Amino acid sequence: MKVLVTGGCGFLGSHVCELYRGMGEEVVSLDNLTKHELVRTGYDVEGARLHNWNVLKEMGVQLVKGDIRNKEEVFEAARDCDYIVHTAAQPAMTISIEQPELDLYSNVVGTFNVLEAARAYDIPVVSCSSIHVYGNQINETIQEGEERFIREPPAIDESYPVMQGKLTPLHVSKRAGELYVQTYIDTYGLDAATFRLTGMYGPRQFGGEDHGWVANFVIRTVLGLPMKVFGTDKQVRDILYVSDAAAAFDAFYRHPVPGLYNIGGGERNIISIRECLRLIREFAGREQHISYEPKRHGDLWYFVCDITRAREHLKWEPRVSNEEGIRRLVKWVQDNVSLFKG
Ligand SMILES: NC(=O)c1ccc[n+]([C@@H]2O[C@H](COP(=O)([O-])OP(=O)(O)OC[C@H]3O[C@@H](n4cnc5c(N)ncnc54)[C@H](O)[C@@H]3O)[C@@H](O)[C@H]2O)c1
Repeated sequence: MKVLVTGGCGFLGSHVCELYRGMGEEVVSLDNLTKHELVRTGYDVEGARLHNWNVLKEMGVQLVKGDIRNKEEVFEAARDCDYIVHTAAQPAMTISIEQPELDLYSNVVGTFNVLEAARAYDIPVVSCSSIHVYGNQINETIQEGEERFIREPPAIDESYPVMQGKLTPLHVSKRAGELYVQTYIDTYGLDAATFRLTGMYGPRQFGGEDHGWVANFVIRTVLGLPMKVFGTDKQVRDILYVSDAAAAFDAFYRHPVPGLYNIGGGERNIISIRECLRLIREFAGREQHISYEPKRHGDLWYFVCDITRAREHLKWEPRVSNEEGIRRLVKWVQDNVSLFKG
């Protein structure tokens, strides 16, 4: 089997590559090594960009430096592949607001090119969306608890209305990608799915304020750097450890029921920023320097995935608990501190 992973040098993509290499499969990564969200982190940006590339090289992944906005490059990489996992994207809401054109071409045209290659060569494909497409009107359906926001029922399934509330360019580009996937299923009979992913975390995540909040807090705690919470630390997610996320892509290959799936940690992995910061502090054994900033436009304050559909159709379930996952991420950052120094 040969798998094409777009964005293979990114956080999630690198774990999908690792999963398939571990099974002895052939893997191609197509990545342009941009990761715009790194620029503001103050890390060793070039070192961070190349880190996952070098790890994948060691694993025997075929590395192609190319761009999903370029149709020929996507077709070339997809030829002879049996499966496409499409993770390449402009993933950050903040950057979508500052650079809406970059967001449009990366997320809409890029996804279109990937679907075209999948159609031309008849390859099953999964594309990454985000729970952000539900929109931040969910903020109006929550109550404030002691440690976190709460909601009844706690979990939200795929039938919940999308694009409710104030929109940003990221909402539109991710939703457009989803609609193209649905169109290719309906019109061309493509074996395709969209995963609406929750907040993921794990090793090889160069999280910053723009994207990857769990890793951002872990890195800042381990390095003793100041950190910001926007709005309130009672914001909630059902965070998902990255190896569990990678496993969901393989689950679709084995059980290819086309459509849309919420992919998250579910009700067993609910956590607020406050609770997450506490766990990180405990595992890292360091004090945190936190400032509280005004809330940001577009931020979604609560999301917990109802994962029943993925459980039933894909036979998939998250396995790693928040405690175990955060412990592993703290350890990875402690072992790689030089990557995060400017
Ligand atoms: N990380 C999360 O918590 C999260 C949450 C919800 C959804 N998602 C979605 O999951 C997917 C993967 O996210 P991630 O956290 O691994 O992001 P990431 O930024 O770590 O990885 C994306 C990769 O795509 C590459 N890339 C960007 N534009 C490209 C282009 N035009 N051509 C080729 N490569 C390009 C980047 O260089 C990067 O290596 C994205 O679609 C993202 O929107 C992520």
